[in-house]
Amino acid sequence: MDTAELAGKHLVLGLTGGIACYKIAELTRLLTKAGATVQIVMTDAATQFITPVTMQALSGRPVYTSQWDARIANNMPHIDLSREADAIVIAPASTDFLAKLAHGRCDDLLSTLCIARDCPLLVVPAMNRQMWQNSATQRNVAQLRGDGVEVLGPDSGAQACGEVGDGRMLEPSATFEAICAFFQPKILRGRRVLITAGPTFEPLDPVRGITNRSSGKMGFSLARAAAQAGGDVHLIAGPVALETPWGVYREDVQTARQMYDAVMHATPDTDIFIAVAAVADWRVDHVSEHKIKKTAGQPLPSFNFVENPDILASVAKLPNPPYCVGFAAESGDLDVHGEDKRVRKNVPLLIGNLGPLTFGRDDNEVVLFEASGKTRLPRADKKLLARTLIGEIAKRAPRVGGDSLLS
Ligand code: C5P
Repeated sequence: MDTAELAGKHLVLGLTGGIACYKIAELTRLLTKAGATVQIVMTDAATQFITPVTMQALSGRPVYTSQWDARIANNMPHIDLSREADAIVIAPASTDFLAKLAHGRCDDLLSTLCIARDCPLLVVPAMNRQMWQNSATQRNVAQLRGDGVEVLGPDSGAQACGEVGDGRMLEPSATFEAICAFFQPKILRGRRVLITAGPTFEPLDPVRGITNRSSGKMGFSLARAAAQAGGDVHLIAGPVALETPWGVYREDVQTARQMYDAVMHATPDTDIFIAVAAVADWRVDHVSEHKIKKTAGQPLPSFNFVENPDILASVAKLPNPPYCVGFAAESGDLDVHGEDKRVRKNVPLLIGNLGPLTFGRDDNEVVLFEASGKTRLPRADKKLLARTLIGEIAKRAPRVGGDSLLS
């Protein structure tokens, strides 16, 4: 099986005139690395900012710029180029091009392609903040949204013209994320998902502490997949070196007690709680105010440990709990420990994996434990596995005002 995220997807990527064209080189790389085939089409203005040669080299396909291009056998590039496409993405989408789209004008190859399409259209606006705010542009964008065009961004911040405000094109990585999300079925639309991820850090003194080898990758991948599935995602993360997934609200904490407080605060607004964090079981009862010194001849330091709250079990015990999903990282005998843990934590679904075979890795192999039995999922890349798991969770979690699809 091809595990690339966009494997089998064919995109027409249309560039219009704007300095943000430089971002499309990187976007094209991200799309092709993820398995998509990319057909570049450029307006004349776009070729002033980046050359067709660059775009051809990066996409690995000839670039089209003219509706009179005779390379297409029937001489109808405006029809043929989009017929195989899963979507047309216009990035950057200039003010003028948005206006053309909104009015159905077609006086060049790219605008004609858009009006002759039989696939979804996504636009990624990029322009000066005044051009974006101009009421004509806002009218055109509202019209495009009403016509079912997906508008990605724009971002806010410093602009090439030196001004600051709304209108920047989304960064290539954010555009890529938004395109990936577009293709995902919205199975969590309207549902609020709370996820804990990463390790916790329990201080011993101001510079030292106890933590564990959880990288946070599984929890972050689940947060990304849940957001791509249309969920409203709140991610509570211990100390990790990972970027916040696109569209996810993130809250950082250090200790188990901070994570507990943050989770308890968020739970009333949660439909599904997925506890992925590797929470420290213990903390020292007294954190030294100053760095503990190594002094010759002095006894070695010793610590008294006290138990941390069990966040998942506490949430599952609430009178009206969200649908709770636990994780278990075991070092062996997963089949026995997984089901034991599910029952002990009193959760409907527990996802078990073997710690040494997942910590820090990009792939994972898990078993689902539930009252009706267990299901083993094959080893897969954590991003794709997360998508599968979100599908399994969405099927089981009761819908607001209704039952789960499995009950
Ligand atoms: O007991 P154990 O740590 O193996 O249980 C793992 C599951 O419980 C995970 O879902 C983890 O996020 C959650 N957990 C928790 N609070 C703790 C310990 C574990 O939420 N203090």
